[in-house]
Amino acid sequence: ARITLRQLLDHAAEHSYGVPAFNINNMEQGLAVMQAAAACDAPVILQASRGARSYAGDVMLSKIVEALIEMYPAIPVCLHQDHGNNEATCLTAIRHGFTSVMMDGSLEADARTPANYEYNVAITERVARMAHWVGASVEGELGVLGSLETGQGEAEDGHGAEGTLSHDQLLTDPEQAVDFVMRTGVDALAIACGTSHGAYKFSRRPDGGILAMHVIEAIHSKLPDTHLVMHGSSSVPQELQDIINRHGGEMPQTYGVPVEEIERGIRHGVRKVNIDTDCRMAITGQFRRIASESPAEFDPRKFLKPSMDAMRDLCRDRFERFGTAGRA
Ligand code: G3H
Ligand code: 13P
Ligand code: NA
Ligand code: ZN
Repeated sequence: ARITLRQLLDHAAEHSYGVPAFNINNMEQGLAVMQAAAACDAPVILQASRGARSYAGDVMLSKIVEALIEMYPAIPVCLHQDHGNNEATCLTAIRHGFTSVMMDGSLEADARTPANYEYNVAITERVARMAHWVGASVEGELGVLGSLETGQGEAEDGHGAEGTLSHDQLLTDPEQAVDFVMRTGVDALAIACGTSHGAYKFSRRPDGGILAMHVIEAIHSKLPDTHLVMHGSSSVPQELQDIINRHGGEMPQTYGVPVEEIERGIRHGVRKVNIDTDCRMAITGQFRRIASESPAEFDPRKFLKPSMDAMRDLCRDRFERFGTAGRA
């Protein structure tokens, strides 16, 4: 059944669990998430970026999700637009069956300036008003994560892409979060709490305490009815790096967000946990392994089935560890 982000995260808040939001671009990734969810009775957030929509096409993407919902009638599914950049992206998503949209007003260059804060408030409020008219949920974002354009996150020393901002300047300001939520009416708020997008989050093993838990706690206590969203939540598991690199890959050593840190975040009010990179790595590791172990193989299913299985296992692990399992 199709449900909204609001319905799902209200339930998650009531029962103190988190929900992974997995990015999908195709049938295999969709099946992987649903197989994992069905195996452990977890509700699902499938999210599609603008890139996913143009890769598959809106009709194909929405029909894939329609098919997944029909195949798994007992699993609640929220289809969410990830990083919507304007009203058109968000409204066309809703038209194609998305029950939730992210209006990312922090995508705009120089999102920290007062003019851009007002831009973010205004466009997010417009999207929230329109989405709510038709029963869809809205996620906004406040704060600065790693750059989506370059695929590079800010380094762990807290320097942004330009290297000019201190760690504190990058994190979401709790007072501003209250103003933002009051003025926009968003259902969920993506916060900057120390993570960044992509595989290259940290160059050294995080030794605990990498998330700005005081920021998460402060925002959660001031905004108990707003569901907090953590982007950049891939853990970049060592074993996935090893599979890729053992089979001809050349990914430099890197570290992601340890799952224990995410579990701490969930205890402090994080409800939606965005994961894309880990799924990509699970799939690519199997592509590389099969290409190198079976160089005569040319049936795409021989590549895609093990890839799906690897992504399914990763998703299942996150459902179990975030407390989503058993909540469908
Ligand atoms: O946060 C962005 C997601 O990882 C989606 O990435 O725009 O390459 O599909 P994408
Ligand atoms: P990762 O790159 O850490 O998987 O983050 C994905 C994300 O935040 C999608 O919005
Ligand atoms: Na999102
Ligand atoms: Zn994101």
